[in-house]
Amino acid sequence: MTANFTEYLNQFSEQEWLATVEKLLPEIHEVDRNAIQIWFRFYPLSLFRYLEAAENREQTIQQLAIQGDFELKNQIDSSHKFLFGHRFWKETKAAIVARAESNTNESNDLASIVTDISKEVGKNAGAKECLTKSIVFAGLMTLVQSGIAAFKASKGEVQIDAKQLKKSAKDIIAERAKDDSQGVFGFLKTVDKKYSVCYDETESNASFRIINDEEIATASAKDQTKDWKAMDERRWEGVIPVECRSSSCGTCWVGVLGGQEKLSDVSPREKRQMKIFGYNQPEEEKPFIRLACQAKAFGNATIVIPTWNGVFGKKIYGNVERLELEPATTSAVKLRETIADASNNTK
Ligand code: FES
Repeated sequence: MTANFTEYLNQFSEQEWLATVEKLLPEIHEVDRNAIQIWFRFYPLSLFRYLEAAENREQTIQQLAIQGDFELKNQIDSSHKFLFGHRFWKETKAAIVARAESNTNESNDLASIVTDISKEVGKNAGAKECLTKSIVFAGLMTLVQSGIAAFKASKGEVQIDAKQLKKSAKDIIAERAKDDSQGVFGFLKTVDKKYSVCYDETESNASFRIINDEEIATASAKDQTKDWKAMDERRWEGVIPVECRSSSCGTCWVGVLGGQEKLSDVSPREKRQMKIFGYNQPEEEKPFIRLACQAKAFGNATIVIPTWNGVFGKKIYGNVERLELEPATTSAVKLRETIADASNNTK
């Protein structure tokens, strides 16, 4: 019985999932509208399926220059902690498992499935349906990529600190919009204005300072308050993983939860490179996925740092235009070779 629901969900392509997210976006609370779109880009179904089908998985992972932990099955309770809806994870997980175990013949479309389960989660958690849709989306895709056994086996714990948990969706939206005060004579300041970048909304005080017009990755390197490298090898320099600092490697991709409009416009190169890396998103001047080594801040911003990076645009989506790479500036030789391969072989 369980297999039927999971198998049914398995029939849908990444495009169909993304189209359903887009369709239901107006019904999702503003607090999670960017977050759920970012989450789906952090865990692309097409990449998951490509790796599942690979003859030599380890070799394929190397070929795609994947670094870090990209597998949802290792992060069943945590991948979505940056969604406001994560606080309803326990109820969401229970409702999805119940649906998986009760349905023998699922035939509803994706939007109806998400809406049905969101209603139930809302009822059980005492929350509005607009606040539960995002976590239901993430939960269903987690089921697809993890399988029912692993999904059921996770603890289902909420991973937000107590202080943050008390905040309402409205509080969070207001916090994201606010810029740091520049003091009494702030209006006289020009280049020396300082702002903050929050890199983890699930923790209190998880932010670093940034000078007006500074790249996010440059500012993040100055924060040495924690042993970042011990948390994630890719974070050898500071809060945000970096390698080339010239939009050549894709290591520094981040999702922008708030303050998107206070970042610099995406440059043609940044936009093009993100396609090569496989970080797909709608074409916008200030998109919700950015390269932190390129995006400059002109106010406070709230970001989320993915647990991995890779170069999979050509192999997975085949939408990469030919690109002249700049001279290599990074010590990561293998990474450079993979990027060059992804570009030079593409017509
Ligand atoms: S550090 Fe390489 S793309 Fe930003």
